[in-house]
Amino acid sequence: MHPTSVENTRVPDTALRVVVIDDDEQHLKFVATLISQDNVVVFTSADSRAGLDLVRMQHPQLVIVDLIMPGMGGMEILEKIIDFDPATEVILLTGHYSSESAVEAIQKGACDYLTKPVQAEKLQDRIESLLSEFRNRQQCLELENALLDKYQFASMVGRSAPMLETVRRIRRVAQHFRTVLITGETGTGKELAARALHDLSPVASGPFVACNCSALVETLAESELFGHIKGAFTGAVQDRVGVFEAAHGGTVLLDEVGELSPAAQAKLLRVLQNQEIQRVGSPAVRHVDIRVVAATHRDLRSMIKELRFREDLFYRLSMVHIKLPSLAERKEDLHLLQQHFIKRFAEQYNKNIRGITRRAQAVLSRHAWPGNVRELENVLGNACMMTDSETVDIGDLPEYLRSREPSETDSETAVATLLEVEKSHTVRVLESLGGNKMRAAELLGISRAKLYRILADSDLPDGDLSSH
Ligand SMILES: Nc1ncnc2c1ncn2[C@@H]1O[C@H](COP(=O)(O)OP(=O)(O)OP(=O)(O)O)[C@@H](O)[C@H]1O
Ligand SMILES: [Mg+2]
Repeated sequence: MHPTSVENTRVPDTALRVVVIDDDEQHLKFVATLISQDNVVVFTSADSRAGLDLVRMQHPQLVIVDLIMPGMGGMEILEKIIDFDPATEVILLTGHYSSESAVEAIQKGACDYLTKPVQAEKLQDRIESLLSEFRNRQQCLELENALLDKYQFASMVGRSAPMLETVRRIRRVAQHFRTVLITGETGTGKELAARALHDLSPVASGPFVACNCSALVETLAESELFGHIKGAFTGAVQDRVGVFEAAHGGTVLLDEVGELSPAAQAKLLRVLQNQEIQRVGSPAVRHVDIRVVAATHRDLRSMIKELRFREDLFYRLSMVHIKLPSLAERKEDLHLLQQHFIKRFAEQYNKNIRGITRRAQAVLSRHAWPGNVRELENVLGNACMMTDSETVDIGDLPEYLRSREPSETDSETAVATLLEVEKSHTVRVLESLGGNKMRAAELLGISRAKLYRILADSDLPDGDLSSH
């Protein structure tokens, strides 16, 4: 018999995949028969190396492996599997029980250590609980995807209070604004918000023209913004339309508006007041029908004090002011954003990445995110590119996030974070079920008492969810 048996049929995503590796072919068959059932696909190998290849190929949720085999032993296989995908459950089998090797196996990440010949009932129980855990996880994944859709607004993801408030403002303002000022730290989504304002406005079908004011060369700024006519200056070999004219009937985004020179600020003020422009070199006044979104990460008020920004222009621009929250101010959105980016990059890189391990989540949630959503996007983009497994793990995260020495306080934060994850996940599941606590407890695989305990610990206002 060939040492490895692989089914040709494609394994459905809803099936539990199990790889069994044991050089004792009789025992191998025995175990395979024991655990075979609907929704469980078993792959077997009597050779340790071929078995490991099988694991790499099939991404099983469970591997059952014999401890002592010629070539590579079970302990080494265990290490390699955990290295490859720490989410895999590994059960070690042994003919000769020793408590030292049991402890070693558990320390290395095995979930169980059983003596041969395995007791049928014990193994079947284990499979049963894995199956139900697996089903729960899949249902949660579906729910998470549904939540992601629900809390995604014009590609802005977030369900924290400050983000929902921002989205509400954008929706309301989009209908009516002439000028809006968007402020927020770097990477908070100012450009995204500007696009949302345009896309939800009555001029959505008109042009959206973005101009990065910090990239304007002082001497050419005026011509960029207002255009010029042929011969207006050396090098003006033909007429040119400026940003404002190009955006006629639509929206202009003046990004990094704080970087405009004093001369350009004065001209901009005039455009905002009169909706009129003059191309450089031309006396003709042209009417432009435009909406203006100005964005900056700078504190314009302190720039006014330093006489670097015109106060009258500031008041013109900031009649409507939308301030985007930093990621540190909305850490409860981290989880949803992680899902969003992992899903997006998995598609982009054509990889089957399903999620992120808890310990990697803990690392992400203790970071301060000075670069906000852009930094998170970069970190996860890189992680998804690097990872070989179905879950992003600590090893896929950049060194600067991981490098802090674990200390006592770290383990405390890690615990707090796990509790937070539990809490926020419970609340999300409950919300998605319209507040039905019985169903939520069922779906989460916990008792109602436990559900109440988790909710009592969360700062959710009482009236927020209807109780069932
Ligand atoms: N709420 C969000 N949901 C999903 N993606 C977001 C969100 N906010 C920002 N991003 C993403 O983060 C990145 C940075 O966003 P954006 O360019 O809009 O930031 P910014 O505030 O203009 O930054 P800067 O001040 O550096 O120009 C973009 O790739 C954007 O798609
Ligand atoms: Mg920007």
